[in-house]
Amino acid sequence: MEHFVAEEMRRLIDKYRERKNEDLMKLTYEFVKDALHPEPGREDKLYRLEHSLRVALWGKKIAEGEGWDPEPLVIACLLHDIGYVESWKNGAYGAHHHYSRFIAEEYLEAMGYDPKEVKKIGVAIVLHAVSSPTENPELFKNASPFELSVWDADDLDRYDEMRMIMNANRDIGELTAADLKKIAENRLSLAVSSKDRICGTETARKYWLEEMAEGRRLYERLIAQMDHTWEMEQWLAGKRL
Ligand SMILES: [Fe+2]
Ligand SMILES: [Fe+2]
Repeated sequence: MEHFVAEEMRRLIDKYRERKNEDLMKLTYEFVKDALHPEPGREDKLYRLEHSLRVALWGKKIAEGEGWDPEPLVIACLLHDIGYVESWKNGAYGAHHHYSRFIAEEYLEAMGYDPKEVKKIGVAIVLHAVSSPTENPELFKNASPFELSVWDADDLDRYDEMRMIMNANRDIGELTAADLKKIAENRLSLAVSSKDRICGTETARKYWLEEMAEGRRLYERLIAQMDHTWEMEQWLAGKRL
């Protein structure tokens, strides 16, 4: 995809250029907030900012677990979805990670960040949404642990309790026990197969397995609850359990 940063974004970057001696993690958060510009009536923008904060927290935890300096990964995570600013305008959501990379690279260059680090951050940002390891095994095999870590941090936020509830809100309601059981079994099999997801680091893998175990517990309990539906009927029919 051809390099693209909108004029408006360039002007914002210029504004931040004057503050490049401030703490870069804090400054980057302010920059992302300014760019995403959450406003009343656009809760999707606030969601994006809050999601970016949670992803950055996962990035910090991964970096700390691996004994890395947290700054580059926290910055990469904060910036990973900033490209939505363009996607909101043109509807190209499938390209948001490319926009994010271009903006992040220009912003970090303006901040005087080490060019080698800028390149790593750019790759990590693109990888978070470029494809999956099954679709593009070579790309993922050749990526460094750092380059896979924004993808890990993003997924750790996307598969947490909030997402389980959002999924449940979509497909769980006053359904029959058989239908609910089917839904829970499907979700359970996803949680079970996801345990084999490739992770960039051992730290991310540990957190990922914890999240998948939570999902498994929830859906196993839901299946058990649905199975209990018939216990009373059996008891009434004289089959003492
Ligand atoms: Fe994204
Ligand atoms: Fe994201």
